[in-house]
Amino acid sequence: MASKYDIALGVMLFCICLVVANSVHFNYPAVFNFGDSNSDTGELAAAKGFQLPPPYGQNYFKTPSGRFCDGLGGSNFHHGCNFAAAGSTILPANAGSISPFGFGVQVSQFQKFKARVLELLAGRKFDEYVPAEDYFEKGLYMFDIGQNDIGGAFYSKNLDQILSLIPTILLEFESGIKRLYDSGARNFWIHNTGPVGCLGQYVAAFGTDTSKLDELGCLRVHNQAAKAFNLQLQALCSKLQGQYLDVNVTYVDIFSIKLDLIANYSKHGFEQPIMACCGYGGPPLNCDSRVSCGLTKTLSNGTTITAKGCNDSSVYVNWDGTHYAEAANQYVASQILTGNYSNTHLS
Ligand SMILES: *[C@@H]1O[C@H](CO)[C@@H](O)[C@H](O)[C@H]1NC(C)=O
Ligand SMILES: *[C@@H]1O[C@H](CO)[C@@H](O)[C@H](O)[C@H]1NC(C)=O
Ligand SMILES: *[C@@H]1O[C@H](CO)[C@@H](O)[C@H](O)[C@H]1NC(C)=O
Ligand SMILES: *[C@@H]1O[C@H](CO)[C@@H](O)[C@H](O)[C@H]1NC(C)=O
Ligand SMILES: *[C@@H]1O[C@H](CO)[C@@H](O)[C@H](O)[C@H]1NC(C)=O
Repeated sequence: MASKYDIALGVMLFCICLVVANSVHFNYPAVFNFGDSNSDTGELAAAKGFQLPPPYGQNYFKTPSGRFCDGLGGSNFHHGCNFAAAGSTILPANAGSISPFGFGVQVSQFQKFKARVLELLAGRKFDEYVPAEDYFEKGLYMFDIGQNDIGGAFYSKNLDQILSLIPTILLEFESGIKRLYDSGARNFWIHNTGPVGCLGQYVAAFGTDTSKLDELGCLRVHNQAAKAFNLQLQALCSKLQGQYLDVNVTYVDIFSIKLDLIANYSKHGFEQPIMACCGYGGPPLNCDSRVSCGLTKTLSNGTTITAKGCNDSSVYVNWDGTHYAEAANQYVASQILTGNYSNTHLS
């Protein structure tokens, strides 16, 4: 049986299988999560008042839940809160952003949440619905954000410009982490960013010239930017661990887990490493920027196109060209929980 903390982690983070062989032992009373659609359980959909269309949610709820996946979503305040919102970036949102909840805003939302919880606890009426006061210090603070900063930047910048932007992105991240530390956070669990160059959405937009693709079919420069971001993120984690003697910083190498899944997909039980399960256009990408998963569109010449789900999402790594499918997320979560990709000995 999974412990309640495994469940909290799963709910917060992934379309996860609740019973996973795990050697990372979680013993945190609460989880506070910050990020983008990789861990949004319905924030953006709720905030902006839209419904994701079917087949989102088909494998867990049988109906869309606001989660950008075919699987799980949900939340529970006693054991923490999830501030992640789809489309979010580390850098502050601008007029063109999908999500207004940049990382700094999510940190401010946390600070308001904590202040409100402390007020409610003083009133002694809602103890079972909100975290206990010491959960804020003992809880785990999780982060999976940066993918949209890197992936999104390629629409307006070249590789060199993006590489020179990375320190600015990470300075903003550091400032958010420090604000959380000042608010009492002590246990930090930081995911690096995945191989964004392997996402069908970007391959469709930037990979029509196949010389830009590597042997896996991924965009070279996108993955190069993701790697550069990750190296500097890891260095920042080491710096924070050295600077604050009373914190635990864990850096988790999501990039390697996902790249291994894509490179060795058949060994891990998958048939399609890059092609989206839900989309339009068929092989090799099944991604068409004119119509996203679950939607139908009438083209100017009168032809109607629909982005439909595939028959068996469990053999697809990618769900909709941007997000991983339920089975792939389960695989990623199982690898995180082996502990093999976590660096707990930063110095
Ligand atoms: C860091 O983690 C270790 C092992 O999980 C624990 O013993 C220690 O108390 C933690 N330190 C802080 C400051 O939370
Ligand atoms: C694929 O699997 C092989 C054999 O286990 C391993 O050496 C290699 O690093 C894997 N590829 C990636 C990209 O992880
Ligand atoms: C309309 O345009 C689409 C895409 O450009 C094309 O595939 C389709 O054949 C066209 N339909 C007609 C009726 O011309
Ligand atoms: C899904 O299965 C149905 C019935 O077996 C088949 O007609 C259809 O072509 C399949 N669709 C895809 C996208 O494989
Ligand atoms: C962790 O990695 C080691 C070394 O590569 C490997 O032998 C071990 O099986 C891995 N553990 C799990 C649970 O995958």
